[in-house]
Amino acid sequence: MPVRVAVIPAAGLGTRFLPATKVVPKELLPVFDTPSLQHTVDEAIGAGIEHIILISNRAKPAIEVFAEEASGGARITVVYQDSPRGLGHAVECARELVGDAPFAVLLPDELMGDSSHLKDLVAEYEATGKAAIGLKRVPRNEVTAYGCVTPQGVPDANGRVGIRDVVEKPNAVDAPSDLVIIGRYVFGRDVFGFLATLKPAAGGELQLSDAIGNMARTGKVNGVLISCTRHDTGTPMGMLTASIDAALKRRDVGPQLRAWLETRLKGEQT
Ligand code: UTP
Repeated sequence: MPVRVAVIPAAGLGTRFLPATKVVPKELLPVFDTPSLQHTVDEAIGAGIEHIILISNRAKPAIEVFAEEASGGARITVVYQDSPRGLGHAVECARELVGDAPFAVLLPDELMGDSSHLKDLVAEYEATGKAAIGLKRVPRNEVTAYGCVTPQGVPDANGRVGIRDVVEKPNAVDAPSDLVIIGRYVFGRDVFGFLATLKPAAGGELQLSDAIGNMARTGKVNGVLISCTRHDTGTPMGMLTASIDAALKRRDVGPQLRAWLETRLKGEQT
């Protein structure tokens, strides 16, 4: 079955962006001049998605306004998570609307350069019928911030590798590899069985990476290495670098920003 549905979880509290998130949801903060969530919607549409399910929280009514106004042509439906009980729980909230269809999950606080990675994940799912998970290679000392995978051997020439297990935020010395999970996934309906039996992790949240680990131990998960650019816009610094990158690429403002940065970095007042 082709992948035409995407779930975008946007019900979190965005505490790393306080005080801005007291008034604006994190997912609507602009990357230069466009809400970061619009970039995620555009990425999904570029990979063939026709129906987007936004998971929101009633304390973030601006997400509903976004869903009504968003451009791009996909149908957008908002579903509520009663409280932010973790990413695994957020995805489970889409169960009824997703039905039996395979679906993508995109975390809106990671900004991709284009839709190519999501297209690769969709192609991998459609070819194998197994869940396809976005992976990135990081320096060993950075695995501590991610879900780290135990791969079945090394990735092939196209960056594809089977996944045997997932360890959440391991110590650098105990980490099973330098391959970590990023916020792009494609699942079949079987993921809901794994989500339904999740137990709260340390911190009390129902973690999507725990469900992926349980699934991987049954041999039903493949990973695909990302080959496009990616910004972690879940932190103020990542959001700033993503905005600068986005503006530098633009014909209308790029040259002006480059000239300003060069002057500023020479220590001159502008
Ligand atoms: P994060 O953990 O990065 O978002 O979740 P957060 O909790 O809002 O951020 P901080 O740590 O407090 O700054 C990744 C994505 O998953 C959503 C978030 O909205 C974000 O887009 N999410 C997270 C949910 O929808 N529900 C949850 O229970 C948790």
